Amino acid sequence: MDDLRDKYLTAIAGAADESALESLRVTAVGKKGEVSLKMRELGKMTPEERQVAGPALNALKDEINSALAAKKSALEDAALDARLRDEWLDVTLPARQRPQGTIHPVSQVTEEVTAILADMGFAVAEGPQVETDWYNFDALNIPGHHPARTEMDTFYMARAEGDNRPPHVLRTHTSPVQIRSMLDQGAPIRIICPGRVYRADYDQTHTPMFHQVEGLAIDKDISMANLKWVLEEFFSAFFGTKVKTRFRASHFPFTEPSAEVDIQCSWEGGTVKVGEGDGWLEVLGSGMVHPKVLEAGGIDPSQWQGFAFGMGIDRMAMLKYGIPDLRAFFDSDLRWLRHYGFSSLAVPTLHGGL
Ligand code: PHE
Repeated sequence: MDDLRDKYLTAIAGAADESALESLRVTAVGKKGEVSLKMRELGKMTPEERQVAGPALNALKDEINSALAAKKSALEDAALDARLRDEWLDVTLPARQRPQGTIHPVSQVTEEVTAILADMGFAVAEGPQVETDWYNFDALNIPGHHPARTEMDTFYMARAEGDNRPPHVLRTHTSPVQIRSMLDQGAPIRIICPGRVYRADYDQTHTPMFHQVEGLAIDKDISMANLKWVLEEFFSAFFGTKVKTRFRASHFPFTEPSAEVDIQCSWEGGTVKVGEGDGWLEVLGSGMVHPKVLEAGGIDPSQWQGFAFGMGIDRMAMLKYGIPDLRAFFDSDLRWLRHYGFSSLAVPTLHGGL
């Protein structure tokens, strides 16, 4: 029995881990363990022998069990100590630098324009970039033979031979969203439609894809005076300074009368400054929505009237942030994007500043 005790206590003391300990437990005091087998032999002993061997075996069993338990908790403590030693973390270290993107000036200016006009009660409407020629042209009073169709350098979608669906175009302006919104919502209506538009044109101030925002307000008593007020309020909020506007009579098929709108600016040292000086810069087309356009939008022109305007978002971004070349907007040059981009946390709001 002393041999058994020595053998197991030594083995337990030297066990390297919990699984070694567990197999020791099985071989010593498990059901078929050495100590358990010895206990079975008690039955064959004389009562006198049993009185001596029984308590001694029980004591041995207890001793082995408590040695196992003590070793187990020692091993657990050691494992925890090792983890604490290996896995410590200095939470006071500065965070690792992560590459950070910026918000593109077009996105930023779209948000700015939306913030200002939403505050005046305009809701945002959107439409598809691939349009039928009906929405892009006919419904806007630009019939098939009209020179505006070629003037706009339209991209037509390819059609397989025998495909008789109506021609589709990449929308050349955001005005088709006027029609969709009128058909959807009826009058009265007050919306803006920001989005991508396409024309086959490429130089310092033109790219084949650019961005416009359209405005439309239809009600019983809306006039050019409302248009002028909205635009002057808009430009002053957008440029952060009082901006005078000049309306020049013009022609668009979808408005009557029509006006091109210039904003006051100065040209000094080759840079444009808005809101000062005696120069003018054309930035926008506008007018009173043509009765035929109202009709195409399902609105009765004898009951309702209103104004529409459309301007280039990219152009506004170039003016406000002094960006000289439009083509760079879409080059994806990281140096340009870092320089002209905005922090994603600088969300434009009227109260926070634009
Ligand atoms: N759709 C015109 C353009 O792209 C702009 C415009 C919109 C003019 C609404 C008048 C009214 O040139």
